[in-house]
Amino acid sequence: MVNRIFNFSAGPAVLPESVLEEARENLLSLGSTGIGICEHSHRGKPFMAVAAEAESLCRQLAGIPDNYKVLFLQGGASLQFSMVPMNFLTADRCADYLVTGAWSEKALQEAKLYGKTHVACTSKDGNYNYIPSEVTYSSNPLYVHFTSNNTIFGTQFSAEPKGVPEGSFLVCDASSDIFCRPIDISRYGLIYAGAQKNLGPSGVTLVIIRDDLVKAGDSKLPTMLQYRTHAENESMYNTPPTFGIYLMMLVFRWIRDQGGLKATEARNRAKADALYNYLDQSALFKPTARKDSRSLMNVTFVTGDEARDNAFIKAAEAAGFSGLKGHRSVGGMRASIYNAFPASGVDALVQFMKDFEAKA
Ligand SMILES: Cc1ncc(COP(=O)(O)O)c(C=O)c1O
Repeated sequence: MVNRIFNFSAGPAVLPESVLEEARENLLSLGSTGIGICEHSHRGKPFMAVAAEAESLCRQLAGIPDNYKVLFLQGGASLQFSMVPMNFLTADRCADYLVTGAWSEKALQEAKLYGKTHVACTSKDGNYNYIPSEVTYSSNPLYVHFTSNNTIFGTQFSAEPKGVPEGSFLVCDASSDIFCRPIDISRYGLIYAGAQKNLGPSGVTLVIIRDDLVKAGDSKLPTMLQYRTHAENESMYNTPPTFGIYLMMLVFRWIRDQGGLKATEARNRAKADALYNYLDQSALFKPTARKDSRSLMNVTFVTGDEARDNAFIKAAEAAGFSGLKGHRSVGGMRASIYNAFPASGVDALVQFMKDFEAKA
């Protein structure tokens, strides 16, 4: 018997147990092939079927229109910080960035290497504890980039940014909330997400990109850095991250079997509400994100006393609640409750916090 504990890690993060069990079986033999999933050639029929199913389930779940490509890349979301400006930005054009946390800052820094940038809004003044409601775009941005969920600061856009100028395309880093709720892909030019929070293991990055942007990308870049290369070769220009794609396929099946993205959102809201409702009435713990900007995925909170935060984290760890330490730039605690995190774990944490508070 394996003793699994509640894992609140921000990523790599908890995966559905049924997915892990199925993967365990298939490590030795993918179906009846007699060859494990990590041992199959990416050009062979069994793996090609896995990749095709991963793509088709992804399209089905998110209702991805036919004029978009679904790519499985490597290099993490961090390489997308560079690939986006590298492929599209020219010295004479400006890219607008909504700076709502450390990851959007990093994305912005990469864009600065390739062209002009404009900060359309920032919540740095509040240590990124809110999503700005006012956004001031530059006169004719090539694209507008935003981070839909700020993993470190526990904030999330409730919808796409408003007023994106006509003729600009929207780019989103959705690494920490992709498929946590339904999404209208047609509003985006490009969406990217490292898999290791809501989709699978680290090492594979999902990119959804509109066909015209595949064509528009700079064709003088190194081959591996052009979206065109991966789009034209169905993510198989070189050896793709086969195990990651396989696990993502299983996670997509799991999301489908759980009722799709609408049902996923309902479950995520119920989990987040359970935690925030308790925090809102607690005399000991306080949420750090502004109420209108709270994330469904990363719930950040503090006691206001570092020693007490540390005592709580230590006691929680001893009781089987792992990964609750907040990022150093916020301090306190962070409970990451991605799609696969069970509601029973949230309930157990709330009870543990109540007991801790009663004894404090
Ligand atoms: C929102 C967001 N963007 C980007 C990254 C960086 O991802 P990677 O480590 O896959 O490059 C992370 C990692 O936690 C993240 O949370």
